[in-house]
Amino acid sequence: MSIKKVLVVSYSQTGQLTNLTDSVLFPLYEKKDIEVVIKSIRPKKAYPFPWDFMTFMDHFPESIYLDPPEIEEIEDDENDYDLVILPYQVWFLSPSLPITAFLKSEYAKKKLKDKPIITLIGCRNMWVMAQEKMKILLKELDAKLIDNIVLIDQGSSFSTFFTTTRWMMTGKKDRWLGIFPYAGISEKDIKNASRFGWAIKEALELDKEKNDSPLCSGLKAVNVDEKLIKSEQIATKSFSIWGKLIRKVGPLGDAKRKPIVMIYVIFLFLIIATIVPLNMLIQTIMRKVNKEKVLKQKEFYAAPSGNTDERMKDFLNNE
Ligand SMILES: Cc1cc2nc3c(=O)[nH]c(=O)nc-3n(C[C@H](O)[C@H](O)[C@H](O)COP(=O)(O)O)c2cc1C
Repeated sequence: MSIKKVLVVSYSQTGQLTNLTDSVLFPLYEKKDIEVVIKSIRPKKAYPFPWDFMTFMDHFPESIYLDPPEIEEIEDDENDYDLVILPYQVWFLSPSLPITAFLKSEYAKKKLKDKPIITLIGCRNMWVMAQEKMKILLKELDAKLIDNIVLIDQGSSFSTFFTTTRWMMTGKKDRWLGIFPYAGISEKDIKNASRFGWAIKEALELDKEKNDSPLCSGLKAVNVDEKLIKSEQIATKSFSIWGKLIRKVGPLGDAKRKPIVMIYVIFLFLIIATIVPLNMLIQTIMRKVNKEKVLKQKEFYAAPSGNTDERMKDFLNNE
């Protein structure tokens, strides 16, 4: 068997996505005939962490409109890769700005064309709209999406609204007030993500990456929460309308944008306190009425890897 070459291009602020990626990749290092090349995306202007709230919110217009920031040029090599793994985090229901910049780079144009791609998302819990944008970006590169793996922060949607926000604003991940869980993806979920690596390793040995079909099906790669789909669609619309206006006022970081961003934040809080609960009730009823439609939607967003678990026993705890 010839050597299989796997390219991994990634960015992580807190290191969470790096840990997740390492867990997925470690089975690949077991094989001498698999070469893994990891490239980091380095934004020319580093993003702050922890974030202050206004700087955080100031980034939504560029995120939603996929305006690429400047990144350091990725050093080219002569490798012709067999598989590309793209770990990414979601920023404002869109692929994060660093990964967007990578996907619009000359390097990506050259290296991803016609290649099978596995996306690996680590985020709070709202990733569906971001992956739709990712599909468009990959299509523009003539790349072939064969798998999507998603891991989300532990706890309910209500809990993570507080724990993830607190983590982003203070850097603190610990249990909070005795009621909220640790922020971020659970250690157990990160460890168990190596099942994807074992499945990818086996598939590479059998040349399955050439088949244009998923390598990670049957491994519970994604779980689409139907309760969040409509919220993501509505929020995307709202971000798009306000983002368009804010981008017209000035570039990212411009002081002139601050008052409008502030007005939008107040507007958001008012909406969250009033219309969101009412809308949640309406959506619960609508989902009951449109059961078939919801099932179809779930299936669509779960593709290509799906959320079934029939191969878990073969690949979980394989070490
Ligand atoms: C600016 C910003 C916006 C974010 N927006 C979302 C979002 O829309 N949906 C979501 O599930 N997570 C969101 N997150 C959480 C990230 O996807 C991710 O979980 C977190 O930033 C940790 O990633 P890291 O590996 O880069 O540290 C956001 C984080 C940041 C910093």
